[in-house]
Amino acid sequence: MQKLIIEGGRRLKGELALQGSKNSSLPILAASLLCMDECVIRNCPELTDVYAAARILNCVGCRCTFSDNTAVIDPRTVSGTVIPGNLMREMRSSIIFMGAMLGRTGECTVSVPGGCELGPRPIDMHLAAMRKMGVDITETGGSIVCRSRGGRAKGAKLSLAFPSVGATENIILCAVTAEGETVVNNAAREPEICDLCGFLRACGADISGDGESRIAIKGKEKLCGCEYSVMPDRIAGATYLCMTAAAGGEMILSRACTAEMEPFLSALEQTGCSIFTSGDRIYLRSGSRLRAVRDRIRTMPHPGFPTDAQAVLMAALATADGTSVFEENIFDCRYRHTEALIKMGADIQVLGKVAIVRGVPRLHGAPAEATDLRGGAAMICAALAAEGTSEISRISHIDRGYEKIEEAVTALGGRISRV
Ligand code: EPU
Repeated sequence: MQKLIIEGGRRLKGELALQGSKNSSLPILAASLLCMDECVIRNCPELTDVYAAARILNCVGCRCTFSDNTAVIDPRTVSGTVIPGNLMREMRSSIIFMGAMLGRTGECTVSVPGGCELGPRPIDMHLAAMRKMGVDITETGGSIVCRSRGGRAKGAKLSLAFPSVGATENIILCAVTAEGETVVNNAAREPEICDLCGFLRACGADISGDGESRIAIKGKEKLCGCEYSVMPDRIAGATYLCMTAAAGGEMILSRACTAEMEPFLSALEQTGCSIFTSGDRIYLRSGSRLRAVRDRIRTMPHPGFPTDAQAVLMAALATADGTSVFEENIFDCRYRHTEALIKMGADIQVLGKVAIVRGVPRLHGAPAEATDLRGGAAMICAALAAEGTSEISRISHIDRGYEKIEEAVTALGGRISRV
């Protein structure tokens, strides 16, 4: 089992080009199943979750190769419709293959997906939407067997109880080749949904309204292949900015999606960091000590503050001057990183969905176990700010979402090694 060893207490300084987005790449890889020709997907981060998606593509008969952050997928040879439980359990996004397989073959057998343990993560909205689109679904012995009546899903008017990112993606994937029009009300508005729609439009899909709450999709008989470049990863961007804010110093984040990062940047700016954006570059300089954020940091669906950036901002605010208050509104159990931060000397009190962070003058290095992807990233932020050495284990969680994290931290002047 590998570990990350971090020597903290050093100011950071450097420039970093942002990786491609994990949460865009995964649905886009699934979407390639719907095409009748080869797809070339550039700026695809090389991550364990992305490799898990490639294994699913291989398993249903697609050829999928990676080199230099480019995935080449040949979906012409799709033959299978069953995604085995071991592949489904590798990550949450495996469920996205349900909509894509239904769109391609009219049937699939999947099971409950894995992914970070952030509290219960049901798929009821996904299943209810597919059923409304004319898909018969039977759940037996852990398998979810889906079959479109008449071999092709039907367009439907859908209204989500909550703007779920995954359910919105699954509906879009099923609807782009369904018969007739699908309308999704209260759809998720995350930038990664727009990126998925951008890819599908490049393949010939007819989609409008993505980025807004009402998305309309007119089903097409066939989609072609295309070349597409995945958007930058706004959460990895937030993480590297939080590392520099926490440790102190200055950095330039290039190839960033500055507009999509605005909800995060406006919260980070309240800590007293100087932040300038120009084109696809973000410049950050942090003073000697951060200020606590006065307004409660409430995680909300986009364009609210992203839940995926909650843990890393909390790590930065652990040593701020004053008290910051977080409210986690998306997942029931997304404060598991707090235990490690407390071990490093942070003063954090969790009361249900609220976490009260009273800034301490300094943290100290400690051994810590990554609890989940973003929680593990938060531990790296805290370790970089802390005096002394930290050893972070269970880093397979971190490798699911951050490409070559030790190279990125080293580019910023941090001392980190993998053992
Ligand atoms: N939910 C339901 N029923 C459903 C679907 C969702 O109750 O059928 C609930 C969930 O339990 C959760 C809330 O709705 O409480 C939001 O879930 P959502 O479906 O929006 O999240 P997701 O699709 O499972 C994606 C990202 C997450 C990110 C969330 C919210 C991917 C692969 N994952 O998850 O990313 O936190 O949206 O923005 O896109 C991460 O990258 O670390 C990560 C966890």
